[in-house]
Amino acid sequence: MSTDTRGSWGSRFGFVLAAAGSAVGLGHIWRFPYVTGENGGAAFVILYILCVFMIGVPILFAELSLGRHSHKNPVGAIKAIAPTGVWKYLGYLGVATGLFILSYYTLIAGWTFGYIFKTLFQNPITFTEFSTNAPLNAFLYIIFLLMSIGVVYGGVQGGIERWSKILMPILPVILLFIIIYSLTLEGAMEGVRFYLRPDFSVITGETVMIALGQAFFANSLGMGAMITYGSYLNKNENIIAAGTIVVIFGIFISFLAGFAIFPAVFAMGQSPAAGPELVFVILPTIFELMPGGILIGTLFFLLLAIAALTSAISLLEVPVSFLIDERKMRRKVATWLVGGITLLFGIPSALSFGASDFFSNLPFWSGQSFFGMMDYIFGSIALPLGGMLFSIFVAWRWGLIGANKEISLGNASFLGIQSTVWGVIIKYICPIVIFGVFLYSTGIISL
Ligand code: TRP
Repeated sequence: MSTDTRGSWGSRFGFVLAAAGSAVGLGHIWRFPYVTGENGGAAFVILYILCVFMIGVPILFAELSLGRHSHKNPVGAIKAIAPTGVWKYLGYLGVATGLFILSYYTLIAGWTFGYIFKTLFQNPITFTEFSTNAPLNAFLYIIFLLMSIGVVYGGVQGGIERWSKILMPILPVILLFIIIYSLTLEGAMEGVRFYLRPDFSVITGETVMIALGQAFFANSLGMGAMITYGSYLNKNENIIAAGTIVVIFGIFISFLAGFAIFPAVFAMGQSPAAGPELVFVILPTIFELMPGGILIGTLFFLLLAIAALTSAISLLEVPVSFLIDERKMRRKVATWLVGGITLLFGIPSALSFGASDFFSNLPFWSGQSFFGMMDYIFGSIALPLGGMLFSIFVAWRWGLIGANKEISLGNASFLGIQSTVWGVIIKYICPIVIFGVFLYSTGIISL
């Protein structure tokens, strides 16, 4: 197997930062605080952490080992184990999901980029004016897409690993700076209390489902991003250790993001349950009122843009690695091709915040926006579905013996009790629990 020609990580540290870069993105800093705010605060945080460790971590190990086993993209990884039959479509589902999530993820990422300058230059444009301005959105979209293309263009070590090493360490530093500021505001402790004091009476079946969905999105699970990143790992790497570090880093950043946001929200008398607009509507008003808010606000959106970039490249890398491995395309050609398709699907998303009536209120999708439809299909359904099928594939088709052998290559101690626990979770608990999530998110069951 020539891992050299298709790229590999330069070091374990490089892999961990790249994988953490994929995981930590808008999902942690934009989505996590607002779903936490909408779902009651501390109790939701505890539930989320449980979901990550019970379901997310076992699936992460499954994806990483599947990738490293074959040194291939999701389609190739599955074909290496099941050369014929329908399983390969699971790989295609992953590749397509990556492409489609990227198409709307880039839009939000472009906004974070635009908001850096809006905040810095104190541009008074409102969020509605901003999101309905088609030329502005197109411009920001293309800029952000070009940055992602630029990184992926450079390949695994020279692009993804190199930029993750540069960008990722900046994240916690900016975040800590904002937290200190946020905590010193008058009334900040109200927010800390909301965030840290659990009230379990607010937990419902629905909350559990939302926490599980967040565990997938935030940890880049369910579409083969981690298969692809695992495929660049050397055989002597410890998948368990590296994977665990990635997840813990992600939880740490999510946790910090809450500390940056809730104290400020409460100090300014705003509602923590503002929804997806928390970051783009509520925070800018807070930054305007705060002393020093311009600097803090600018830093905050810079932070979001960096986090989004290292995530977007992992979404882009999945279809690119597919085209390189399976279609023998050159990396540069593949990157431009996938970037072009992304842009094509991004246009209707960009127009769906009021710029186009049709895409803002799809007649065939009960009047929801194109963006909402994409996020629902690919963010809410395809990820849990993919995660469930990956766990079934690994446990029942590949078999736990093969998977255990792969994981133990860099970690001999895995073969004891650890592999037994993991085996039970991946074989039974993951498929069953995720099936519940799936039924819920498609509306087949409601709780
Ligand atoms: N995890 C990223 C975030 O939190 C988004 C992301 C990157 C992702 N790659 C993914 C989500 C793969 C699902 C699957 O923003």
